[in-house]
Amino acid sequence: SKRISIAIDGPAAAGKSTVAKRVAENLEYVYIDTGAMYRALTLKAILRGADMDDPALIMDILDDTAIELLPGSEGQLVLLDGQEVTAEIRTAEVTNKVSYVAIHEEVRKEMVKRQQELAAKGGVVMDGRDIGTHVLPDAEVKVFLLASVDERAQRRHAENLQKGFPSDLEQLKQEIAQRDKIDSERKVSPLKKADDAVEIDTTSLSIQQVVDTIMKLATERI
Ligand code: C5P
Repeated sequence: SKRISIAIDGPAAAGKSTVAKRVAENLEYVYIDTGAMYRALTLKAILRGADMDDPALIMDILDDTAIELLPGSEGQLVLLDGQEVTAEIRTAEVTNKVSYVAIHEEVRKEMVKRQQELAAKGGVVMDGRDIGTHVLPDAEVKVFLLASVDERAQRRHAENLQKGFPSDLEQLKQEIAQRDKIDSERKVSPLKKADDAVEIDTTSLSIQQVVDTIMKLATERI
């Protein structure tokens, strides 16, 4: 059977990675979390004390940075210059700065190039903001996941509490709304549903229902 490409886009905390991971497992495909790549670069820029608003500096850092996504037993492992940073890229500091790094045109160009290389052989489920519109415009399946800010903040809040992390629901709402705003309003490849993407409002759906919907779309094209 054909090894297709599946693009999953949508706003922050819409459940993209959870769903993408399960679909990839079902199909024995590679899962590629493109947000993790922007986060790893952001982490390195923070450690360097870099100004996120300086595209030339951020590009210098990226040119000298290796980002690897490896399958692990408990999900994807993220390596930054050979060092594991899977947990470090999820801190509030990285989360609140990453959208400023992802604004820069040169940075996006390089990231898109790396992502297209990773997906070149097909058999991938890739999640992000611009996968259906720019990274994999020819993907056989394109999905755009939606949920209200309240619903997404609630889910992230529950997840934080379950992991024993401190969590403030109102703050989460603000951070999610702010990140969506920056990601949707940027000039270069903003967060946007591709014309040929299938929109799935996950607000009242379970994870499994979303996975089933995507699996059905995928099976029709394999
Ligand atoms: O998916 P995640 O929430 O980890 O993404 C973190 C940030 O990385 C997004 O808010 C966005 O600013 C940026 N991003 C992007 N394009 C992608 C994936 C992520 O601009 N394809």
